Amino acid sequence: MPATVGIGAQWGDEGKGKIIDHLAERASMVVRYQGGNNAGHTVIIGDTVLKLHQVPSGITRPSVAAVLGHGMVINPPALVEELDILAAEGISTDNLHISANAHIIMPYHILLDELEERRRQDQAIGTTKKGIGPAYTDKAARSGLRVQDLIDLDRFARRTALALERVNLELTRVFNVAPLKVEDIVEQYAPAARRMAPYVRDTGLFIYEALRREEKVLMEGAQGTMLDIDNGTYPFVTSSSPSAGGAVQGAGIGPTWIKDVLGVVKAYTSRVGMGPFPSELTDSIGDWIVEHGHEYGTTTGRRRRCGWIDLVALRYAARINGFTGIAITRLDVLSGLDEVRLCVGYRLPDGTVLQEYPSDTQVLAQVTAVYETMPGWQEDISAIRTFDELPGNTRAYCQRISDLLGVPIDLISVGAERNALIALRWPI
Ligand code: GDP
Ligand code: IMO
Ligand code: MG
Repeated sequence: MPATVGIGAQWGDEGKGKIIDHLAERASMVVRYQGGNNAGHTVIIGDTVLKLHQVPSGITRPSVAAVLGHGMVINPPALVEELDILAAEGISTDNLHISANAHIIMPYHILLDELEERRRQDQAIGTTKKGIGPAYTDKAARSGLRVQDLIDLDRFARRTALALERVNLELTRVFNVAPLKVEDIVEQYAPAARRMAPYVRDTGLFIYEALRREEKVLMEGAQGTMLDIDNGTYPFVTSSSPSAGGAVQGAGIGPTWIKDVLGVVKAYTSRVGMGPFPSELTDSIGDWIVEHGHEYGTTTGRRRRCGWIDLVALRYAARINGFTGIAITRLDVLSGLDEVRLCVGYRLPDGTVLQEYPSDTQVLAQVTAVYETMPGWQEDISAIRTFDELPGNTRAYCQRISDLLGVPIDLISVGAERNALIALRWPI
């Protein structure tokens, strides 16, 4: 059975957790393929609110295998904390599977993330300070530690000592802070290593075998397309590939297994951290969306920057991911506006209007959004479960998004709760 990938189409926090949790009902496996605990995916089931950072959003369904793929960077103590929270909620983690080849976020990665951000001053990226960038840097430099190194504590101590030879030079000579000690790191990570060990396996083979058995495999992207290291608004990006190519690479399967690529599209745009954002609203409507939509980060609690939906960036996301369908989320948040706007072009300072997303981030930083305006709607749509029951203006807004993208609508989310969803087509 082919695999389905759910990908954030914007700058993260599109509601991927909610959509993946819903689709997981039909899957036998959910795979996180990149990122680490910079992600914050919210799943709401009745009164239970889960904020998942590393564990895939299929975890609430006992029959669904939850896989942490080798494209991830894993923070072991944070993972254990997450497992404890799940256990306290009565959610079993027996069906968890952790790649032996995923990289480990070390204490010095977190420290270096913080120090690097401070050093950048007004050029800071606004990272989550979870050590993501430094962990992927070490991976690319071939000096990272992997899960297989962690669970053998002697090997972990040896590899950590080797890594610290360079890291401590950087800490002491570049940043003028105290060096780290091997024993401290081993002591800090050993309990997590013991807890994780029973779950560790060759997840690439595990996923492949499920596909061969014709089971439905769902892949869960973290962050979003515009934060992709290759395709996003570099350097204001994360250090991995949330896009469709990253799914193949980070799970370790062939591209021909993927049939559906679902773009998760927030009905407006939000962004946390620095970087260009052409349709950003810095006026009272922007404030209204932030407050009405409670747009504060799941991981860091930071206020999210909000703006109108950006179809130039979304058409780019559809192109590079090959979206076969979209899930429009948080549509209910827009109820109450007299009019809604769609960014359909970027105007350069000389008046030229771009239809295509510019590859130069400096150019992107200079553009102003060109809008199409549509009438808004006042009705509370959160209890609606069919497309035809939506107010006419809401339907027209969704249809316009789909038409401009040239991609059909699979799902529409009208509330945070698991069942607050309109399914036009199941992409799995
Ligand atoms: P993710 O990182 O893409 O999984 O998204 P987050 O969980 O960080 O942020 C999305 C927020 O919107 C969470 O608080 C969700 O509970 C909430 N949410 C998801 N879908 C909807 C929706 O359709 N309507 C509303 N009002 N909230 C939603
Ligand atoms: P989910 O999966 C929104 C942003 C940070 C920063 C940039 C780099 O919940 O959608 P990093 O810590 O990754 O080096 O930060 O990326 N960022 C996110 N923004 N949602 C996320 O994850 C994010 N993960 C990272 O704010 O701008
Ligand atoms: Mg999030």
